[in-house]
Amino acid sequence: MDNTNDSIVINNINYTLIDLEKDCWIRLVNGAVKGRDPFHLPAVANFSDGDISLRTVVLRKALPEERELRFHTDTRSPKWKALQVNPAISALFYDASARIQLRVKGKAVLYFNDAITVEAWEKTNLSSRRCYLTPFTPSDFSEIPTSGLPPHIEQEEFTLEESEVGKEHFGVVGIKVESIDWVWLNHAGHRRAFFDYVKGEYRWMIP
Ligand SMILES: Cc1cc2nc3c(=O)[nH]c(=O)nc-3n(C[C@H](O)[C@H](O)[C@H](O)COP(=O)(O)O)c2cc1C
Repeated sequence: MDNTNDSIVINNINYTLIDLEKDCWIRLVNGAVKGRDPFHLPAVANFSDGDISLRTVVLRKALPEERELRFHTDTRSPKWKALQVNPAISALFYDASARIQLRVKGKAVLYFNDAITVEAWEKTNLSSRRCYLTPFTPSDFSEIPTSGLPPHIEQEEFTLEESEVGKEHFGVVGIKVESIDWVWLNHAGHRRAFFDYVKGEYRWMIP
């Protein structure tokens, strides 16, 4: 059934499936560039030792052409190792004022010690670099409540030059998006659409 020409009206604007898919990526790009955007902090899930593992991350980049999302992480973290074993990954976004949820599924690509990580690291500020300056392994248990950072690092009393060692643990996780499940909550009836990049199909769904 070719239903790509059917459209819905949101805030007096007509959207076809093609328009909605474009709108998803506009929202994702805004989420990456605007710190206060509701899409800035998605929950990202993957498999880890047969379990589901879920956490909040900062959306750092959204690339509509490449259909890729990126966040930064410590390469010593459990998620990095688990994604090497199983790259299946999912990200959840919700914009409460727009009442739009996106459930993104894809495969993770792990960038380390390459042009992408170098560029991302160079744009990272001192405060963010602190995360990569612990000598300990992230997610390990500790006998005491601690940031895992030496006091001068914790107080941000270090130079950009001194922070360069953190690069050793700095990784970028790319999510190669394979599908987006879009839901719009509306008092006059919700709407749902599914954008499947693997099958190359855009379809309406029953919410
Ligand atoms: C607001 C917020 C933003 C976060 N951003 C990131 C991030 O961009 N990358 C990251 O690795 N962890 C981030 N974290 C920490 C993760 O949620 C998680 O606690 C940590 O990465 C350990 O996850 P893991 O044990 O699954 O590796 C963030 C936490 C919060 C509360």
